[in-house]
Amino acid sequence: MSRLSVLFASLLVFVTKATAQSPVWGQCGGIGWTGATSCASGSACQVVNPYYSQCIPGAAGSTAAPSPTTSSAPAPTTSAKSNTVAKAAGKLYFGSATDNPELTDTAYVSILSDSGFFGQITPGNSMKWDATEPSRGTFTFTNGDTIANLAKKNGQLLRGHNCVWYNQLPSWVSSGNFDNATLSSILQTHCSTVVGHYKGQIYSWDVVNEPFNDDGTLRSFVFSNTIGESYIDIALNAARAADPNAKLYINDYNIEGPGAKSTSMQNLVKSLKARGTPLDGIGLQGHFIVGELPSNLQENLEAFTALGVEVAYTELDIRMTLPSTAALLAQQEKDYQTVVTACNNVEKCVGVTIWYSWVPSTFSGQGAACPWDQNLVEKPAYSGIIAGFQ
Ligand SMILES: *[C@@H]1O[C@H](CO)[C@@H](O)[C@H](O)[C@H]1NC(C)=O
Repeated sequence: MSRLSVLFASLLVFVTKATAQSPVWGQCGGIGWTGATSCASGSACQVVNPYYSQCIPGAAGSTAAPSPTTSSAPAPTTSAKSNTVAKAAGKLYFGSATDNPELTDTAYVSILSDSGFFGQITPGNSMKWDATEPSRGTFTFTNGDTIANLAKKNGQLLRGHNCVWYNQLPSWVSSGNFDNATLSSILQTHCSTVVGHYKGQIYSWDVVNEPFNDDGTLRSFVFSNTIGESYIDIALNAARAADPNAKLYINDYNIEGPGAKSTSMQNLVKSLKARGTPLDGIGLQGHFIVGELPSNLQENLEAFTALGVEVAYTELDIRMTLPSTAALLAQQEKDYQTVVTACNNVEKCVGVTIWYSWVPSTFSGQGAACPWDQNLVEKPAYSGIIAGFQ
């Protein structure tokens, strides 16, 4: 989902320009909207929520912008700030992922940089392998440094993301036909160099990202295929040596509720601990769908913390099938509250980070996933977060 960030960012820039006609998928109305209210031919303006109307291709309906009203969704009822409330509840942070292309949007950056809202940020893409070692032994940190410097300037914790992942892996790595010893050395060098570069600046690292398939088997890719499960140990050991104070995490999705994948992750934690490999935490990504949260969120968090690791929700967003309705926004508020409450109830759940796609993702007809809307106005979901920490 991270590659889409560039698209989200350019979409954001595009739709906030006032043009005579909004493009397909562009904004065409909503509270506070001053841009175009008619849509490119072949698309029609539809209300997504009171704050956001969008040009939907092939949609039936008027091309005139609907006049939004404030009565169709409950207005947020709080002026409390999410990180302030999280810290008052004893958590370390409430945070957000971000990405370099989004940093040109000053309205967005001013909210992102408000440590009352966000006490932690995660670079969505700029510390990944393709960004940091695009060719063997050539390291580039410019974009990662931009995010690290922003965190420093804002007094925010920084989450490194990530050392090793099956995706966004340059072809020199994935198609290099390296033998076990060479590939082990490549991985060791990569994690040491990247984690070492940010030594002292990082609260926690997603050292290993998404190691499992949904059925709980080890995901097949060049590192697991060539080295075996011990690629995870190589990465964690290299990270610990490079920055002894950073909390080292393994991060994955579909481990937020009990099930095969969650059990495999717990078994991995036990194995790593048994063989003395450093590991401090498990990141549960939390990409959810409105009305479809797994049950037993808290019990599942506790199954991890019972093994002696901390936990965090690292990429929380709760999407819906568009267009959104007052009922969907109310359910989304409830769902955000449920997730935050689960973390709040577990002492070793250190924080919650939302993913950075604040602009609705329209590519599959789903979106409106975040607690802020297109115009950076707090949605009912935001009140759900505040309530979850109380
Ligand atoms: C790769 O080498 C390591 C270290 O010698 C060994 O433990 C592991 O089993 C090897 N992996 C494979 C798939 O042969």
